[in-house]
Amino acid sequence: MMRLDKYLADMGKGTRQEVKKYIRKGLVTVDGVAVCSPEYKVEPGMEILLDGAPVAYAAQEYYMLYKPAGVVSATEDKRETTVLDLIRDKKRKDLFPVGRLDKDTEGLLLITNDGELAHRLLSPKRHVDKVYYARVDGLVTEATKQAFLEGVNIGSREEPLRTMPARLEILRTGQEGGRPVSHVRLTIREGKFHQVKRMFRSQGMEVLYLKREVMGPLALDESLQPGAYRPLTEEEIKRLKEQ
Ligand code: URA
Repeated sequence: MMRLDKYLADMGKGTRQEVKKYIRKGLVTVDGVAVCSPEYKVEPGMEILLDGAPVAYAAQEYYMLYKPAGVVSATEDKRETTVLDLIRDKKRKDLFPVGRLDKDTEGLLLITNDGELAHRLLSPKRHVDKVYYARVDGLVTEATKQAFLEGVNIGSREEPLRTMPARLEILRTGQEGGRPVSHVRLTIREGKFHQVKRMFRSQGMEVLYLKREVMGPLALDESLQPGAYRPLTEEEIKRLKEQ
């Protein structure tokens, strides 16, 4: 049971003050009866209409977003478009991205309000695999592969920061526009700030393009276009929770 104003605000229908006004104006009905007091107690299963439109209850929401380049992994930002701005038909207002991708990184980003799940997926102790496809300025070799497997220093000489063993697959290398470029797939089990870019930088190479393809048991749905999203299936949610 919860207050009607909280129910509507939780479902993203406005601030607590705004929804109180709607209720007092008689715009809200519960099971067919207009209710004008914000503290009226409701529970999931009741039919709640705001201005004639149903307000369905969702305790937890889970979306897979194909994050495009150019948007920031934040819940709000004064200047930039955020990943939350892209989830247009969200019900809840307390959604957040699970971890961050850089503004110029694309790919799989999980959006939810399930704090416990997010915590588990991001916990450094759990070693959840993250798989990235990258295009790198330079020639990635067997030596790079070996270095990543052993762990590289992405800190400084004074304050070293060693990465955990990471698996590097060289997809193809060649000359592009007169310079060597490598296409690779990298699996890391941690998520340090700018980790992939810093790993290649530690080997004297710059990442030109970065896309996350997999996070734990979840792979980016290739039928999604950059900027598009879809709710996770029950099966996907189950697999994530088993991580
Ligand atoms: N590593 C990076 O360098 N950037 C990302 O966005 C994700 C992983």
